[in-house]
Parts: sequence; structure tokens; C-alpha cells
Amino acid sequence: MKTNTLFTPLELGALSLRNRILMAPTTRMRAQMPGNIPWELNATYYRQRASAGLIISEATPVSPHGHGYFQMPGIHTTAQAEGWKLVTSAVHEAGGKIFLQLFHAGRMSHNDFQPNGELPVAPSAISSLGQSPVAPGVLKPCPVPRALETGEIAGVIEEHRRAAELAMVAGFDGVEIHAANGYLLEQFLSDHANVRTDAYGGSLANRARLILEVTEAVASAWQADRVGIRFSPANAHDGIAHTDRFGTYAHVIRELNRFQLAYIHLVEPRVAGNAEVAQFDAALSSRHFKPLITGHTRLISAGGHTLASGAAAVQSGEADAIAWGRQFIANPDLVERFAKNAPLNPYNRETFYGGTEQGYTDYPFLNLTPGRLTQLS
Ligand SMILES: Cc1cc2nc3c(=O)[nH]c(=O)nc-3n(C[C@H](O)[C@H](O)[C@H](O)COP(=O)(O)O)c2cc1C
Repeated sequence: MKTNTLFTPLELGALSLRNRILMAPTTRMRAQMPGNIPWELNATYYRQRASAGLIISEATPVSPHGHGYFQMPGIHTTAQAEGWKLVTSAVHEAGGKIFLQLFHAGRMSHNDFQPNGELPVAPSAISSLGQSPVAPGVLKPCPVPRALETGEIAGVIEEHRRAAELAMVAGFDGVEIHAANGYLLEQFLSDHANVRTDAYGGSLANRARLILEVTEAVASAWQADRVGIRFSPANAHDGIAHTDRFGTYAHVIRELNRFQLAYIHLVEPRVAGNAEVAQFDAALSSRHFKPLITGHTRLISAGGHTLASGAAAVQSGEADAIAWGRQFIANPDLVERFAKNAPLNPYNRETFYGGTEQGYTDYPFLNLTPGRLTQLS
């Protein structure tokens, strides 16, 4: 299998990427408390991974209501934007590029995170039946959320726009809107999670409205060519269902063409955690959505890729770039390892969420000379 296509440059919106091996967004829950503020430890972690063609940051709540996991770094206070500056300058100093992933948990949250212990907000008062990690080792059931009033939705859009502005202040190269994995924006799109009867519920056009209005607002803070968006068309976690999955996502992707975003980022069905993966795979993998994307917008594929499958997807034109999650957690020098076809460090699930340096900044590099260690720490 020829793998060199992954090492060719890519024009991605306003950016020129030096390779197509991207770091997928991965929540690691290691922000400084109180205040959910990024700090030196996070800067070291991202700096170590700066050889990625593009880093997409962990999911970052746009609002106090958007938190759903302990110690997530936020992007709704100026202190958080200041903290993120440590991260963006570390990545830039090391020659890398980094987008921030704009996130709102919606119903995938718990009162413990919410201002005044209120209920989490969602399109409708329907529970995800999921669990929220409120502290290390402590999971609490996500409650039945409170349905947002129609008049509150403009505020949610404004939270995304303001967070996008703060991301600019923090020195990011762009932002990715998180519309995947069962969080607020996917909740609005799902005809099971969203049973509203106003302009944001009911028809497909109405359920897609929030995503499109958030995109418009974020693209007004940045240029559209520095904005991407992530979807997981086959996601069936946390009570998410769509009666017509392909039709739903095809509609949204076609509507997004008018913005000419930098990219659309799709999570492949094989990581959907669903019993019907084989059936989904036939219809919902990114190659089926690629022909719907027009103009300069690129397609990033993520989920369960190996070096060979990623290279094949780029080679065949099914995707323009590939994002790796777990392999980037365990291999800060994934690009170099791929280039040399070198063995990969195994990842340790136990240290994915929360904790300190262990399982975060201490994964070994292939060729770590003392000089390089100083450079990376
Ligand atoms: C520890 C961990 C945290 C994750 N956090 C996020 C996240 O914050 N935002 C997101 O969109 N996806 C998140 N994901 C999903 C990954 O971006 C990716 O889609 C998934 O890991 C599959 O890709 P992989 O097989 O290369 O790991 C996370 C995955 C893992 C393992």
C-alpha cells in the first residue's frame, strides 16, 4: 500500500497543511481548576503533537451550560482564552497548527456542572439515559433536561459566536463546530431527541436550523475558510437516533455548501458502537457524503483508521485528510512513526480521562534525544 499521499501538503480553507495526518479532537479532562483553565500541562501535551498536519483541540464548552465532564477546559471566559494562549503559542512555536473544537453538551450533562445546580438544557425534555462523569471515578445519570424556550435559542447561537471570537483572541488558527457524538447540536438534528413544535423542531429543515445558524454566526466571527464542522452520521450512543440517517446528513451537508467552510469532518460508522454497524457502513461512511460536498470544502475522515486505511482513503479521493484519535494520544510523534512505518505505542484507556502527566505527556517518542526532550517539555 502506498502511504505517501498522507505526506503531501493540503490546502484546507485558508491554511496550508504540511501533511494530511491530523489529530482528532480528544477530551482529556485535565484543565486547571477552579475556572476550567488550560495551563502548562495542556500546552506540553499539544506541543508534543505539533507535527500533525492540524491539531483539533478537545471539545471545549462555549458556555457554563455547555459543560458535561469534569475538568474540561472552557472558552467562555477571558481567563480561559488567556490559558489557551499557552497552548496555541506552544503549538505554533513547534511549527504546528491548531483549531479549537466548539462544544455544548446539551442534555449530556448533570446539574453538578450547571449554574445554580439547574437542569441541563436540550431541545426537548428527553433524557439521553447516559451518564455524566462529574468527578474522577464518579458517574451520575444525566437527568431529564429542560427544553430550551424558543426565545433562548438566539442566546445559544450567540454563545457559540462569542466563543469563536475568544478562540481568535486565544490565537487559534480556526475553529471546528462539534455537531457530532450526541451533544447539543446533534440532539437538535435527531427526530428522537428533538420533538419541538417551533421553528427548531419538526421538519428536517427545522431540526437542521440551529446547526446552520450556529455555523453562520461562527463564520461571521471568523472567515468561513477557517471554520470546520464535525458530524457522526452513524452515532447511536446516548439515546441518539435518526429515522433517516443518510437523508438527514445529506440535507445538512448540502445546506452547508453555501458557506464554503474549510472542511466537513465525518466520524466513520465503524466506531459508532452500534450493533448495525455493517448495515450503517454500507450507507453512512464518508465516501457516500463526499460527492455532496462542493467547491473548496474538504472532507476529513476519522474513526478506526490504520495507516493503510487512511492512505487508501486519501489515495482514492474518498477523503482529503485523516484524523487519528487514540493513536495520537499514545504516539505524540505519530507522523514520524507513520513515515518510518515504525511500531506504535499502545494506548492506555485507564488514563484517557482526567489525571496528570501519566498517560498524557509521558508517552515515549521514537527518537528522543536529550536535546529534543528539552525542546518538547
Ligand atoms: C479519549 C477520547 C476522547 C475523545 N474526545 C472527543 C472530543 O472531545 N470531541 C470529539 O469530537 N470526539 C472525541 N473523541 C472521538 C475521536 O475524535 C475519534 O473520532 C475516535 O477516537 C475514533 O478515532 P480513532 O479510532 O482514531 O481513535 C474522543 C475519543 C477518545 C478515545
